[in-house]
Amino acid sequence: MSWRDDYKRKLCTAEEAVRHIKSGDALFLGHCVGEPKALVEAMVANAEQYENVEIKQMVNIGGGPYAAPEMAKHFRVNSIFAGASVRDAIVEGRADFTPCFFHEVPKLIREGKLRCDVAMAQVTPPDSEGYCSLGTSIDYTYQAVKSAKTVIVQVNDQVPNTFGDKVHVDDFDYIVEASVPLIELKPGKITEVEERIGSHCADLVEDRSTLQLGIGGIPDAVMLFLGHKKDLGIHSEMISDGTLALYEKGVITGKYKSFDKEKMLVTFLMGTKKLYDFAHENPEVLARTVDYTNHPAVIMKQYKMVSINSAIQVDLQGQVVSEAIGLRQFSGVGGQVDFVRGTSMSDGGKAIIAIPSVTVKKDGTMISKIVPFVDQGAPITTSRNDVDYVVTEFGIAPLKGKSLRERARNLIDIAHPSVKDELALEFEKRFHAVL
Ligand code: COA
Repeated sequence: MSWRDDYKRKLCTAEEAVRHIKSGDALFLGHCVGEPKALVEAMVANAEQYENVEIKQMVNIGGGPYAAPEMAKHFRVNSIFAGASVRDAIVEGRADFTPCFFHEVPKLIREGKLRCDVAMAQVTPPDSEGYCSLGTSIDYTYQAVKSAKTVIVQVNDQVPNTFGDKVHVDDFDYIVEASVPLIELKPGKITEVEERIGSHCADLVEDRSTLQLGIGGIPDAVMLFLGHKKDLGIHSEMISDGTLALYEKGVITGKYKSFDKEKMLVTFLMGTKKLYDFAHENPEVLARTVDYTNHPAVIMKQYKMVSINSAIQVDLQGQVVSEAIGLRQFSGVGGQVDFVRGTSMSDGGKAIIAIPSVTVKKDGTMISKIVPFVDQGAPITTSRNDVDYVVTEFGIAPLKGKSLRERARNLIDIAHPSVKDELALEFEKRFHAVL
């Protein structure tokens, strides 16, 4: 049968497709912007038919209607990155959280350690050979499509056709056509503190470096200060609109990357329609699976890698907590450790943890992010052995190769002035020395 006939045979409505999800199934949802909205809506509308369907996903920006309290009998979220829409469900015990590195998710699916009975993904219409692009989300979504017993796709002509790893009509069981706008994330306003952090981070970036940057005020601020650099490259798990602005200035050429030269390597995209349009059929954007983009053994081969990630707390030994506030799961490790490790192993690599010195609560209370001890129950995301540079608005603390005493001193140097006395007392107690 030709792929065209096969496509027609598999075509059905969203309501028909989701009837093939069975109670007790483990279902992987396309990651982030790749969430197939029409399929999720049909599944939630059909909730009465299911009991205890396990929903696995990494970053969720689709609202997570299946995580609502009234859905508890039908769906149980097992998140691998506790995003805003599922965080409360985890805290209240209605959902689970499974810790894992982003790069290992495809392997865990392949090996059955993360069970995947059903995959629901969003793809482009097929090309002349029957191949579809996963567009904004290749990451683990590709492996879920390859491994699941039942594969339901939403074919959406608004998904950008990105070059890299593709799936085929042969891989699908049920095909639903739905032309729906993609979820967009608009860049926020960059604060003055973020600008100062961005400027210090940019000081660490040399010409011809290859960058990993995420989304948010700090990465956007870093990019503001990179305008005068030359021939930067991108090897990142994602790019956002901030990267696009830097590319448009001619700063990102990728000419001196060790491999995947002159291409921005990503595993997912998150931003506005402008970014998605930019990535569409653009040979300068290479969208590969996360076990390639984020594998430390791949990243380390990139000359002069620079990774920039954020954190919730850093203690005086340099232990980094990035995903929980005490025991409360706030996010996940994502690609942080993948890139910190790969970058530290790269020749000339610099792995940066960039944080504001304090977090300011709604009532105006300031909480220092540099602390003598991490909060009770908080998991260490990046270990003290892996940490390289910590940056705040007050400067840069180099930690690699530094003794515990030197680390503490360097971190206190960049802490908020309001906590320096307290940290100095701890230093004196711990090291029997004056700061
Ligand atoms: N103590 C108590 N609360 C803290 C805190 C601390 N030390 N640090 C942050 N918080 C609170 C903030 O007050 C804020 O609370 P609110 O939601 O009530 O306003 C919340 O945590 C988020 O803080 P914010 O500074 O706005 O975080 P962010 O959006 O910049 O994200 C991380 C920071 C660390 C959570 C985020 O970068 C992350 O998830 N990192 C891990 C994964 C990763 O690095 N991925 C990179 C590649 S995917």
